[in-house]
Amino acid sequence: MAPFRIRTFGDPVLKRRAEEVTEIDGRIAHLAEDMHATMKEARGLGLAAPQVGVGRRLFVYEIGESGPRTMINPVMVESDGEWEHEEGCLSVPGLYFRIVRPKQVHIKGLDLDANPVSIEADELEATLYQHELDHLDGRLLLELLDHDQRKTAMRELRRRSESEGGAGGQSST
Ligand code: NI
Repeated sequence: MAPFRIRTFGDPVLKRRAEEVTEIDGRIAHLAEDMHATMKEARGLGLAAPQVGVGRRLFVYEIGESGPRTMINPVMVESDGEWEHEEGCLSVPGLYFRIVRPKQVHIKGLDLDANPVSIEADELEATLYQHELDHLDGRLLLELLDHDQRKTAMRELRRRSESEGGAGGQSST
């Protein structure tokens, strides 16, 4: 059993701006560990603290050969280009949308030892960071959809909440 239940669309914690982590201590390390376990079980690439009901600015992820990573108080310092990707979200299970975001990003933050981290990434990895940063600002990918996509999504979510469908097989964040 994963330590946390992943909060889904409609939960108010997903709409709130998360607060800075002021002290990187054992509690944060423990939270990150539990988030990694939750993410793994859900087969996600990334998971932000608000998705497990914690309004703090951190997210965990694992992409390619990175191994499990934790990013604390991340900020995007630069972004450039455009890249379209079919994105999913563990908080909007089973729905995928083509979303255009900057192709390259430069983000800075802290790791679990409070060391500064600076990462330049592109494509899938850049999308992942932007998606998790959005979660920390209380934004779900539904807000990035155009009018028609959004209408279809809301209809589907309503249908689901009436019949409780299962999650899809693709990777989500
Ligand atoms: Ni997400």
